[in-house]
Amino acid sequence: MFTHVRQDTIAGKDVLSRGTPMTAASRYPDIYARWARDPEGFWGEAASAIDWIEKPKKIFDKDAGIYGRWFTGGTCNTCWNAVDRQVAAGRGQQAAIIYDSPVTNTKQTFTYGRLLSEVQILGAMLHDFGVRKGDTVILYVPMVPEAVFAMLACARIGAIHSVVFGGFAPKELATRINDCKPKLILSASCGIEGARVIAYKPLLDEAIELAEHKPEACLILQRPQAEARMIDGRDHDWRRVWEHAVNYAKTSECVPVAATDPLYILYTSGTTGIPKGVVRDNGGHMVALKWSMKNLYNVDPGEVWWCASDIGWVVGHSYIVYGPLLHGATTILYEGKPVGTPDAGAFWRVCAEHKAVSLFTAPTAFRAIRKEDPDAKLLKQHDLSKFRTLFLAGERADPPTIQWAEEVLKVPVIDHWWQTETGWCIAGNPVGLGALPVKYGSACVPMPGYEIDVVDEACHKVPANKIGSIVIKLPMPPGAFPTLWQDDKRFREAYLDEFPGYYKTADAGYRDDDGYVYVMSRTDDIINVAGHRLSTGGMEEVLASHPDVAECAVLGIKDDMKGEVPCGFIVLKSGVTKPPIEIEKEIVQLVRDKIGPVASFKLAITVARLPKTRSGKILRGTIKKIADGDQWTMPATIDDPAILGEIGDALKGKGVG
Ligand code: COA
Ligand code: AMP
Repeated sequence: MFTHVRQDTIAGKDVLSRGTPMTAASRYPDIYARWARDPEGFWGEAASAIDWIEKPKKIFDKDAGIYGRWFTGGTCNTCWNAVDRQVAAGRGQQAAIIYDSPVTNTKQTFTYGRLLSEVQILGAMLHDFGVRKGDTVILYVPMVPEAVFAMLACARIGAIHSVVFGGFAPKELATRINDCKPKLILSASCGIEGARVIAYKPLLDEAIELAEHKPEACLILQRPQAEARMIDGRDHDWRRVWEHAVNYAKTSECVPVAATDPLYILYTSGTTGIPKGVVRDNGGHMVALKWSMKNLYNVDPGEVWWCASDIGWVVGHSYIVYGPLLHGATTILYEGKPVGTPDAGAFWRVCAEHKAVSLFTAPTAFRAIRKEDPDAKLLKQHDLSKFRTLFLAGERADPPTIQWAEEVLKVPVIDHWWQTETGWCIAGNPVGLGALPVKYGSACVPMPGYEIDVVDEACHKVPANKIGSIVIKLPMPPGAFPTLWQDDKRFREAYLDEFPGYYKTADAGYRDDDGYVYVMSRTDDIINVAGHRLSTGGMEEVLASHPDVAECAVLGIKDDMKGEVPCGFIVLKSGVTKPPIEIEKEIVQLVRDKIGPVASFKLAITVARLPKTRSGKILRGTIKKIADGDQWTMPATIDDPAILGEIGDALKGKGVG
């Protein structure tokens, strides 16, 4: 299976002579070559950094699963490795989690010892609700410590968690409830978004009402900012159940699970309105994340690390929760925004106050900070002498943002590329191995485990510097998803069928002469809004459901802060008399109600007709270029060229383009 690895994909040492040198030499070329020569040996060695209950019988079993499985025959427990093991190693008094919540004015430190007792108790509480190994549990939670305890408690008892981001609407939550059929849902009375309190419980109640599958119970964390009304017989007060468990000295042990058993399901946008349930296993996930903490992020056990994302996203799963804890580092759990809580100095304050060595966030957060405080005046109030590196991911880091961050922070700024599906970095700059020169606009080089090719539609490799579909040679590395939740067929169709022997990333881009990877755009209808991945197809389904809409198209248009925002064009049914402006408002509200505020859908534009090819395909690419003010040429296949003028006028009418 591994014999396909070619030497020409391995970035050579000459890479070091280009760009801005950051270290005299990097071990990366040797380490990548070592992986390429012997992937099983490489990952077998990395696996020794993890405690196994039973060692894997095979490092990689090519006959298991869809494209093979990692660490088959091994048994382990992720919570053990993230918590118990750290306490056993003497980290009981070390901070595991620093909860910093400017929105509630709270700062709280949880040592590994305290974290252990919390997950032991919560594991017992889950068990009392009948949750057993292999059962699913949904967490619809804000950024509070209990959310992290809950993820780990599920891992402890072998249950599979599925965290749903708070910015999703009840319908989206209901879709996830129907798909993974949770026995129990854990939630909180509210989340706090800047200055606004968002009541979660009514959203949860509506989702359960909408869903066909009904959970047996809900455990609700009452927060003082908005107490929730509880439903008799179904809802339970988290703190009361906790007190009861403490009074009865309830505890739970780590349940052995197979390395290949699911640790969690995380739903992500696909090309339809139905999200994809990305499955993460236990063994490979631990091995990959543990490897990445030192070799990619250059963090040592005992150091403070901050990933400013949300636990509802994969970045939050991997690098707020599992990665740092598996590594014995201290993780910051930040309930706030880069700006407005209270100001654009919040990130500097948190880094300085908790002595974070590195920060991982999305470029949009830095664009937001720069917009508010272009000269980074607020930075001067803080001592960032411990701060070493800024990591950016979630969307392409635009060169001006990187340059600004470099100038103000005076540390390396590292863009790296990954996806919910992979669970960790595909291409990045492995600072722990000795950073490679930074090239603006590039996510740098493939991590060990990933053989990246750029191919054309016929799956032929394209030459360096030529754009094509970015694909990853199978097998995927440890940590990457083995399949979609109970949907092997969709997994094959969505990811494996188009380019035989490869995983389709659905990203387009190129590699330069040094093998650096440039990720430029998606090849499907996914857009990236403030680092959040959203399906325009899913939004079109919502627009089309409006009774007055005959036809629609949604596409992502440039936005200075969020990178992209969705813009919806609607053609009304003939005979509709309601003013278009009213329908547009209803459409905006409909997307908010059906998908959620996270979609940032604020622009609906009524047009008389949509530009199409003669075969009836909507010319989304050309509309986007007009909206973005980019150069465009008249498509040869267009049915009626006059329509593009109408689109341009409609956009101008809304102040776009
Ligand atoms: N619960 C409920 N609502 C939420 C939410 C949550 N957890 N997270 C976001 N929302 C809401 C927001 O309040 C906003 O609602 P609004 O339209 O009523 O104002 C909407 O969803 C869009 O949120 P967002 O895209 O985050 O925009 P914003 O204007 O609130 O903030 C940034 C802009 C740049 C400050 C913010 O996007 C940010 O911090 N981004 C960091 C990137 C990040 O964490 N990416 C994750 C992947 S690494
Ligand atoms: P998600 O699954 O939500 O993490 O989103 C993954 C998608 O975000 C990728 O397929 C890319 O389109 C985009 N993305 C993430 N990181 C980067 C990056 N560093 N550069 C370019 N695109 C990125």
